[in-house]
Amino acid sequence: MRQVTLEQLYKHPIVQKYVKRSGMDHAITVAEHAFNIAVKKGVNPDLAAKAGFLHDIGHYEWYRENGEWDYQMYKRNDIHAIKGAARAHKLLVRLGEDLVNAKEIALAVLLHTDSYLPEGHLQLTPLQKVVAAADEADEEPGGTHHYRKIDYHAGLERIRKLDEKIDRYLLTANLEQIS
Ligand SMILES: [Fe+2]
Repeated sequence: MRQVTLEQLYKHPIVQKYVKRSGMDHAITVAEHAFNIAVKKGVNPDLAAKAGFLHDIGHYEWYRENGEWDYQMYKRNDIHAIKGAARAHKLLVRLGEDLVNAKEIALAVLLHTDSYLPEGHLQLTPLQKVVAAADEADEEPGGTHHYRKIDYHAGLERIRKLDEKIDRYLLTANLEQIS
């Protein structure tokens, strides 16, 4: 059984506030990609979908006065993955997520991009690789993926569908383990 569903996360005011900033449609799409890639790679799709959904929850606004992003300033000062990891962790723990899972998800959020990290080589875990690949799969030139809009109910429907897929997958995996 999952302690926390995507629907619970989606409906939470913290998610509605911060995930919307960087694009709710993008977040849902990355969660869907993360599920698909995770299933292919034999990674837990529940953790992958949650990390995919929350990966950009740490974004803040680097707006110019005209309301557009200042990308140079953003590149220089961005720590959204660090903020996101902490925010996702706090939220998941508050909702009652298993603590080991909450840490795994937070680490996958922390490492979904290396654009803010000093040069070097990271050894990513399979879950972290899945989330980074899912994000990359939804990237659009010029960052337009952050601006795609989705209506609350349409988003909720996609999130519920994904919850069902995860439940079904986990149920089958459990049954296979028992038999
Ligand atoms: Fe992203």
